[in-house]
Amino acid sequence: MFGPVLLAASRSDRMRRVVAAAPVTRPVVNRFVAGDALHPALDRVRALTTGGLDVTLDHLGEDVTDRATAHATRDAYLRLLETLREEKLGARAEVSVKLSAFGQALPDGGHDIALEGVRQVAELATSIGTTVTLDMEDHTTVDSTLAILRELRPAHPNTGAVLQSYLFRTEDDARALAVDGSRVRLVKGAYKEPASVAYQDRREVDKAYVRALRILFEGDGYPMVGSHDPRMIAIAQDLAARNHRAAGSYEFQMLYGIRTAEQRRLADEGERMRVYVPYGADWYGYFMRRLAERPANLAFFLRSFAPS
Ligand code: FDA
Repeated sequence: MFGPVLLAASRSDRMRRVVAAAPVTRPVVNRFVAGDALHPALDRVRALTTGGLDVTLDHLGEDVTDRATAHATRDAYLRLLETLREEKLGARAEVSVKLSAFGQALPDGGHDIALEGVRQVAELATSIGTTVTLDMEDHTTVDSTLAILRELRPAHPNTGAVLQSYLFRTEDDARALAVDGSRVRLVKGAYKEPASVAYQDRREVDKAYVRALRILFEGDGYPMVGSHDPRMIAIAQDLAARNHRAAGSYEFQMLYGIRTAEQRRLADEGERMRVYVPYGADWYGYFMRRLAERPANLAFFLRSFAPS
């Protein structure tokens, strides 16, 4: 019931100011965001990697509307990768990028600006032995994001993409991407999408997730199972066994702070488990999507306003 309202609020500047200014917001945000800046987040990253988990780091930001901020996003990722090199974390840490933070939606040449920015990030990632995954945003960006993936893959074949099972088009996209060397993170989808392009019923989204999962596991690519849903995880493990996939020829991914015991359990079972670790000051949109996914998170947030 609150999900659509929270997703609409996630793109409201007025709500952003209200939520960010509330003194009680920060402790709740800290449950989902690893730090306001890179260095505190790196402490969390080290704790995860020394515990046998892999990570993908997200420098928070999205919906950039000017070139200077788009370039600042690129520079933040270049600094992040230099730090991963210095800290010798390249084997366990990759990066996830939102192309809207690289200027994808800018009116004059946004697609090309985002492509050039992310190309520089992919070049540095390749040089330190790690990879970039292109997060997927709302449905209006999918064609541009997949076109950028196609531009990057000849020089950086390990560049990953995200597909969202709530979109009707995703089975076709999964078929096209289930090819040798291709890395695809399958998620259910976190944006507010119209009924003309996306399933609205959670059961339909789940069924579509299983169909796309099957395509990816039967194909030649590297499936990345981005879900906290125990049913999807069990089905993925079953598909891995049926398709004779060894551990390490696919992976599980979950978000920082969500189902951490399950993250540990899967890693202890010998599965490759990667945690998506967001950091940075621009946490508002990411945080609101996490509240929208789960009413209990909203209740936790609202309870933090109550006098103790
Ligand atoms: P579902 O929402 O059905 O949740 C299953 C169970 O997981 C819940 O019952 C609960 O136990 C737990 N859970 C789920 N969400 C929770 C939350 N917020 N807080 C606490 N518990 C929670 N989306 C997108 O559109 N583009 C993208 O690029 C990405 N990238 C991405 C990366 C990774 C690594 C993950 C795991 C997810 C994403 N997503 C995403 C988000 C994704 O689309 C989806 O919104 C969430 O993962 C929730 O869906 P689940 O599959 O977890 O199932």
